[in-house]
Amino acid sequence: MDKLKLGSQGLEVSRIGLGCMGMSEFYGEIDETEAKQTLERAVELGISFFDTADVYGWDAEGHGANERLVAKTLASVRDDVTIATKFGPLRSQTAHLGYDGSPAYAKKACEASLKRLGTDTIDLYYLHRVDPNVPIEESVGGMADLVKEGKVRYIGLSEVTEEQLRKAHAVHPITAVQTEYSLWSRDVESNGVLKTIRELGIGFVPYSPLGRGFLTGALKDRSQLAENDWRRANPRFSDEAFAQNLKIVEGVEKLAEEKRCTPAQLALAWVVAQGNDIVPIPGTKRTKYLEQNIRSLEVKLTASDLKKLDQIAPVGATAGNRY
Ligand SMILES: NC(=O)c1ccc[n+]([C@@H]2O[C@H](COP(=O)([O-])OP(=O)(O)OC[C@H]3O[C@@H](n4cnc5c(N)ncnc54)[C@H](OP(=O)(O)O)[C@@H]3O)[C@@H](O)[C@H]2O)c1
Repeated sequence: MDKLKLGSQGLEVSRIGLGCMGMSEFYGEIDETEAKQTLERAVELGISFFDTADVYGWDAEGHGANERLVAKTLASVRDDVTIATKFGPLRSQTAHLGYDGSPAYAKKACEASLKRLGTDTIDLYYLHRVDPNVPIEESVGGMADLVKEGKVRYIGLSEVTEEQLRKAHAVHPITAVQTEYSLWSRDVESNGVLKTIRELGIGFVPYSPLGRGFLTGALKDRSQLAENDWRRANPRFSDEAFAQNLKIVEGVEKLAEEKRCTPAQLALAWVVAQGNDIVPIPGTKRTKYLEQNIRSLEVKLTASDLKKLDQIAPVGATAGNRY
């Protein structure tokens, strides 16, 4: 698989990464054996960029189950892969407990992630959400100290505004920004974030590039979601929004048929086509989806295809807020 430079500080990653969150929580059943096979297959197929966070997954040892899973599965190839993790949100097993973006917490969270990941350095460390009570300059200052101490190689931010990004980048170079971006989440195109990322030479890592699974066409009805599936509480998956959003999927399915690819491949090919500074991290816990998604790189979109997709999923067409 091709590699790309992410940001301007020297980080190089595979053309697409793998989102590991759903292997441990949020999207229905968990199968650790299959999750491990998926991670191993990803390495075989050339993926070198893995996305996790300290708040993904809860097991007998508490939060961080996903970091533990990723670390133990990738231990033998640790030096050949980039593992990105995140800190900031606070949680219990069942509840969200706010945010802590203070330098003291960055240090504490980093130590805990290093331990769970069984590594001396976090390759890419994101502030998962900006703490509304801590200026972003302070949060990034704390992260910059972690770089100085050799505990973190590169710094990233998730879900920031243009203003926050500019302030943060003035404190320490930001290597990557992670934000939801897909055919049904195109806000970064108009809110100044994508433009600023490019102006500052920062890499862009779209999360949920498959619209949390919706754009793949595999979900036709809310009842397919397990009782504990996080998407049940997401406004875009409410009964009303679901029905309206299926119209977007129908358009994606139709064009995918013409292009002789799957809707998931078309949705990913669209994200990839947005630029060589963009590295999406589609998530899956299954090897069959992983293999299918990687082949999105073979789908070449013409100007006419891109125009059709613009008409199928114009900015603002999606029903329901992202959160
Ligand atoms: N920074 C943040 O705040 C943030 C927020 C959300 C996610 N993320 C990161 O971004 C990663 C990707 O986002 P995401 O997982 O939320 O959403 P996504 O990549 O848009 O979609 C994942 C969902 O799509 C399904 N899927 C994947 N490939 C498929 C295919 N070919 N056919 C049918 N279904 C398919 C998966 O099913 P299975 O579950 O059955 O495999 C899963 O339910 C996450 O894993 C996480 O690391 C970051």
